[in-house]
Amino acid sequence: MAVSSSRKSPRRAQVEAAALYPLDWLEERSGLVGGLKYFLFRKVPRDTSWAQTLGSATLTAFLVQAITGVILAFYYKPDPDKAYESIQIITNELTLGWLVRGMHRWGASVFIILMFLHMARVFLFGAYKYPRELNWIIGVLLLALGMGEGFTGYLLPWDQTAYWATVVGININGTAPFLGPFIAQFLQGGASIGADTLSKFYSLHMLVLPGAIGGLIGLHLYLVMRLGVTSPPWSPEAAGRERVEPATPSSNGRSGLVHPSRRGGPNGE
Ligand code: HEM
Repeated sequence: MAVSSSRKSPRRAQVEAAALYPLDWLEERSGLVGGLKYFLFRKVPRDTSWAQTLGSATLTAFLVQAITGVILAFYYKPDPDKAYESIQIITNELTLGWLVRGMHRWGASVFIILMFLHMARVFLFGAYKYPRELNWIIGVLLLALGMGEGFTGYLLPWDQTAYWATVVGININGTAPFLGPFIAQFLQGGASIGADTLSKFYSLHMLVLPGAIGGLIGLHLYLVMRLGVTSPPWSPEAAGRERVEPATPSSNGRSGLVHPSRRGGPNGE
């Protein structure tokens, strides 16, 4: 990894080597730098466009939610007597509290909207078809859990809107066939919406659902890495009119993952 070039001054080479030393140190002991390079620097189809950035935009929105959520959790109190007041303190008294809360509140809508746009792109490009069905299924789970985040987060400010919106949401859940009444009972956690509901929603909102979403995103990205992104349907390559280059030895056979061969194709996947 150390860089040495005859065109560079010895001083510059020395500074570069010193700057890269921590990375070399880490790479030698963990292989993490190589792993990250393998993850980030990948071949993509020639006709990849802005449409394929919607997944990364969704990921960014999720990360913003995670970071602002952790900051809010430092000050929020999941107790019916204190929740509303703690939100007022965050908004009106803490330095930049209004900004962090605003980012989290508006970011929730941005996250959901981006998820839908990304899903629409995947659908319109036919990217849910073989061999990416499993990634579509994982996406559907991500969508459901993302909506769960919105539902559980809505109660936390503990104001009139939050309370009554949750009453309506729990009642709607209760009307689902078979499991509906159990889900409604589980979410409410008691005879009426109160302290038990609030702590349950808080736990789901800041532990269970983000943890599950994080894990599923990891799996989702692994599959994107393994299978590559799909060309648009109007691309000659997607229509099979252009010969897909076979894997060259220098690409370690990985271009086969960018252009997975057809079922029963020459590479027999
Ligand atoms: C937390 C939510 C999500 C995140 C962070 C996420 C992230 C990503 C990223 C970064 C990619 C690769 C780049 C791209 O195609 O845009 C991707 C691809 C994909 N996503 Fe998502 N995604 C999410 C939700 C969904 C949903 C809701 C669906 C569908 C129900 C879905 C289905 C897919 C599929 C099938 C691919 C492969 C697309 C292809 O090969 O061209 N994802 N996702």
